Amino acid sequence: MLPPGSEANAAANSPSKAMREPPVIVVRDLAKEFGGRAVLEGIELEVFRGETLVVMGGSGCGKSTLLRCLIGSLRPERGKIEMFGRDLATLDEQGMDEVRKRFGILFQSGALYNSMTVAQNVALPLEEHTDLGQDIIDIQVKIKLELVGLREHADKFPAQISGGMKKRAGLARAMALDPQVLFYDEPSAGLDPVTSAEIDRLIMRLSKGLGVTSVVVTHEMDSAFTIADRMVMLDKGRVLKIGDRQWFDDLRKLSEEEAKGRSEDERLIRQFLRGDAEGPITTRKTVNNYADDLLGQARTQLTPMPSIETTRRFFLGRKKPTE
Ligand SMILES: Nc1ncnc2c1ncn2[C@@H]1O[C@H](COP(=O)(O)OP(=O)(O)O)[C@@H](O)[C@H]1O
Ligand SMILES: [Mg+2]
Repeated sequence: MLPPGSEANAAANSPSKAMREPPVIVVRDLAKEFGGRAVLEGIELEVFRGETLVVMGGSGCGKSTLLRCLIGSLRPERGKIEMFGRDLATLDEQGMDEVRKRFGILFQSGALYNSMTVAQNVALPLEEHTDLGQDIIDIQVKIKLELVGLREHADKFPAQISGGMKKRAGLARAMALDPQVLFYDEPSAGLDPVTSAEIDRLIMRLSKGLGVTSVVVTHEMDSAFTIADRMVMLDKGRVLKIGDRQWFDDLRKLSEEEAKGRSEDERLIRQFLRGDAEGPITTRKTVNNYADDLLGQARTQLTPMPSIETTRRFFLGRKKPTE
């Protein structure tokens, strides 16, 4: 079963129409701390059906933390996250599992089990979370592998395929339960430009072709501008701006002279989008208190990793990875 919105009515899934419907994800006044240090603060955002929202921002600004709050693997200190109209904070483990079945995650490097073939990796969520018989599972796996162009490689082990193919296999597994929403954390990290463009095309095919809503964390600007319907720029755990791609594209293309009249936030976003070495980002970094910076880092390192086991186990299966 495919998520609502098949190839045929993909046009009806355009964000403009979907934006008039209740959002698939709603975040209100979200705050997350690690060891008393605010990592996310006052985050407000909405994700609409069928759209691709790209989350951007410098390294350490809180992108992955936001994603982990959205998928319920981190519990925020404050604020509300609603997915499919359900407040995550009110759900028990069973309720959370029901929500988890409706979204998929592409983990970095695909997070495949090395001891299992590509097909077995993709079958895992179906075996663990459905009552489907083996023959139906086999068909489902073939469909998912075809979707990502890996059907001929079904019987290979992860060590026998390239980095890009591992990502695609991870995506096939993320799609196993026909999720309505897909979360990606730096999907093109560590890939060459050609392979990462392939992943972009795949993300677009899933979103525009199948109507899958996508939230993509990336700092690759080419990729962001290729796949995004809307973009959100984070800086030090806050939303600097959320808007459609056009707004960000217009800002990116401003000349140095035109940019001078803009607010500091907008100039900072522009600098980020252009990858310029000089600008407000550099200035802001140097005005930070060095001691606070150091202490913040030290405290960060002392904070134990919160458990994300439940969500990982859900998506990756109960078996222990071999590496
Ligand atoms: N489990 C954790 N414990 C303590 N600090 C963390 C943890 N995870 C992330 N952080 C800190 O939170 C900040 C944001 O991290 P992250 O969300 O991973 O940033 P990004 O994905 O934008 O690079 C960083 O300063 C990071 O060191
Ligand atoms: Mg990250």
